[in-house]
Amino acid sequence: MLRRPLIERYRDRLPVTEKTPVVSLLEGSTPLVPLKGPPEARERGVQLFAKYEGLNPTASFKDRGMTLAVSKAVEEGAQAVAAASTGNTSASAAAYAARAGIKAIVVLPAGYVALGKLAQTLVHGARIIQIEGNFDAALGIVRALTERYPVALVNSINPYRLEGQKTIAFEVVEDLGGPPDFHALPVGNAGNITAHWKGYRELLAEGRVTQAPRMLGFQAEGAAPIVKGHPVEKPETVATAIRIGNPASWKRALAARDESGGAIEAVSDDEILAAWRYLASEEGLFVEPASAASLAGVWRWLKSGRIPEGSRVVLTLTGHGLKDPGTAEREVKLPEPVPAEVEAVAAAAGLL
Ligand code: F0G
Repeated sequence: MLRRPLIERYRDRLPVTEKTPVVSLLEGSTPLVPLKGPPEARERGVQLFAKYEGLNPTASFKDRGMTLAVSKAVEEGAQAVAAASTGNTSASAAAYAARAGIKAIVVLPAGYVALGKLAQTLVHGARIIQIEGNFDAALGIVRALTERYPVALVNSINPYRLEGQKTIAFEVVEDLGGPPDFHALPVGNAGNITAHWKGYRELLAEGRVTQAPRMLGFQAEGAAPIVKGHPVEKPETVATAIRIGNPASWKRALAARDESGGAIEAVSDDEILAAWRYLASEEGLFVEPASAASLAGVWRWLKSGRIPEGSRVVLTLTGHGLKDPGTAEREVKLPEPVPAEVEAVAAAAGLL
C-alpha cells in the first residue's frame, strides 16, 4: 500500500483540524508479517503475526506518536521540543523536529543508549544532554524543564503521542480483517500498551469490532516494576529500550491488562535474546532486543499451553535491529579473516 502521512490516513479519528500543520515522514502503514512460528505454535495451529514497527521512518514505533506530537507543538507555536529517552523517542523527536524546523532537546541516561539511536539523534541535529542517572531521573528533569521553559514535552505523557500510537490497532484490524485473539508487546514506560488498548477500545465503541484482543505486556525481569508491584530503583536489562524502573503510564497499563483480560509478566534477558535470535535466524526479522520481549513472553505462554488452539496472536516488534549493533556484536562472533583465496574461502564456508 502507498504510504500516506498517518495523520491523513486516520484524520477523522485524530485530534487535528485543517489548521494543524502536518509534520510527517510517511510513518505507519507498516507490514503485518505472518510468521512461520516456533514448533510450539505450529503444533497447536496458532498463527503468529509480526507488526514490524522497525520499518517506520526512524525505525521504531515512536514515529506514530511523534508525527502528532510535533504537528500539535508547531500548531501551538512551540520553537522547541524536549524528551527524556532510552533512545528511540530521542531519534524520532530529533527527526520530526528537523522536519519541522524547530529545536529538539533530549535527555538520555549516559552509557545506556544503543549506538544507532545516538547516531540518529546526533545527525538529525538534536541537542543531547547525557545525565549520570537512569531514564526515570531523565524524565523527572524533562518534566520540570518543560514546566519552567517554553519547550513542548514530547514524551508519551503527552496525550498526542498516545493518540498517534493508537493507530497500530486500527492497522492490525484492517490487515487481519478483524481483531486478533492476543496482542503482545514489550512494556517500558507503558505508553505503548496504553495506546494499543485505547485504539482497540475505540474500535469497540465505534462498532468496528465486537471483541478486543487480550493484551499481553512483557517487561524485562531486571526492570519489571509493574510485575513486582513497586518501582525498581536500579533497573537492568540487555533490552536498554525498556530499562525503566517507574513507568509513567503504570496505572493505565494495569487498566489495559485488566479490561482486556490480559497479563503483564516478566521475561529474562536470556529469553529475550533467544527470541531475538529466533526472529532473525528463523523468520528473517532483525529487531532490537526490547522488541523480542513480545515473542519471549508469547513463547512462554505457548509452552505452558495458555494460548488456545487456533488463536491468532499479533506481536508488536517495536524497533529495528540496526538500532543496536552493540548487542549484535556482543552476541554474535565475527570470524577471523582468511587468505584471499578460493580454497580458503570454500573451506571457511564449509563447502569442502
Ligand atoms: N520497545 C522499544 C524499541 C522502545 O524504544 C520502547 C520505549 C518500548 C518498547 C516500550 O514502550 O515505553 O511505551 O512502554 N522506548 C522509550 C524511548 C522509553 O525513550 O525511546 P513504552
